[in-house]
Amino acid sequence: MGSKSYIESLAEFIRAIDELTQSYNELKKEVERLSKELYNQKNLLNSIIESISEGVIAVDNNMNALLTNKFAEEFISQGILDIIDPKKQEEELNFKGKYVKITKYPLLLKNENIGRVIVIRDITKEKKLEEESKRRERLSAMGEIAVTLAHEIRNPLGSIELFAGLLKRNLEGENKRLAEAIISVSRSINKTVTDILLFTKSIDIQKEKVSIAEIVDDVIESLRHLISKKSAVVVVRGSRELSLQGSRELLKVCITNIITNALEAIDEKGRVEIEWEGDENYVTIIFRDDGIGIPENLKEEIFKPFFTTKRAGTGIGLAVVSRIVEAHGGTIEFTSKPGETEFRLKFSVS
Ligand SMILES: Nc1ncnc2c1ncn2[C@@H]1O[C@H](COP(=O)(O)OP(=O)(O)O)[C@@H](O)[C@H]1O
Ligand SMILES: [Mg+2]
Repeated sequence: MGSKSYIESLAEFIRAIDELTQSYNELKKEVERLSKELYNQKNLLNSIIESISEGVIAVDNNMNALLTNKFAEEFISQGILDIIDPKKQEEELNFKGKYVKITKYPLLLKNENIGRVIVIRDITKEKKLEEESKRRERLSAMGEIAVTLAHEIRNPLGSIELFAGLLKRNLEGENKRLAEAIISVSRSINKTVTDILLFTKSIDIQKEKVSIAEIVDDVIESLRHLISKKSAVVVVRGSRELSLQGSRELLKVCITNIITNALEAIDEKGRVEIEWEGDENYVTIIFRDDGIGIPENLKEEIFKPFFTTKRAGTGIGLAVVSRIVEAHGGTIEFTSKPGETEFRLKFSVS
């Protein structure tokens, strides 16, 4: 007959099916293996972009997001994609109270540019540090200027004050008042120079026994001009026996600055009270005024160098106060509302 028998053909057919089934099964296994691999890869990719603590956004050429991580989603929901400039490779933005640095990289697929990868980094902390270090630089530059200033200005200033004092003796009426004004102005320039110096150089205190009543008297005497200009009522209350171990000169600067602020805060005929109390361990000096007060939102600012609300203020008065108090191991507290401001300095006696 020559042709295969029916049985033989069937057997071949079955073998062929067998082979087919086998390769199908192998293929299926391979697909499963690849799917699993793909799944793992995708998971890995996800974990990688989620573990970056920067925002990552892949966008197409129309700025539609293709892939993002959680960190970026917050920025996207706040609308960051609308304000990013696609042309800039790098930019820094002030975005909703945060500083962010945005970097863009081309997104390539087989050498074709299909969009961008945008990386958003929150640089608020760095910015703050940078500002702080700029401020420090400014201060240290000021320190050098201050030392020069001190030499160049203080001596001639001393002469001016001295000569005006001599002149005053032979003058009367309006001219006498002018001479007094010269003295007062040169004292206040001297005061500013001293403050700058104290603020910028390191303070080392030579402690001695200082009577509080004596230094308060001295300070009030030196501020007489300002007190009478304001027609201020100044009340002093405290035991003449109380004293503490400290630097007479620095404590005078400290008290001068606080009383000056009080005098500047009050209206014509306002009232400033200086009172102190203590025991064998501590003394507290209290300064009270009935002036404008310190608004709630500025209470954290007033000790910062250069913070001032005054047209001609320097903003270093209280910064110097806090340095001096700190150098004495003391503390400062204050409370304030309109018409009632109180500063309390507390020192240990020995
Ligand atoms: N007794 C006070 N009453 C109201 N505001 C005050 C008082 N003392 C300080 N301040 C506030 O604190 C700021 C900082 O004071 P200071 O460091 O002495 O600098 P300056 O007197 O040059 O402004 C002042 O500008 C003022 O706003
Ligand atoms: Mg001041």
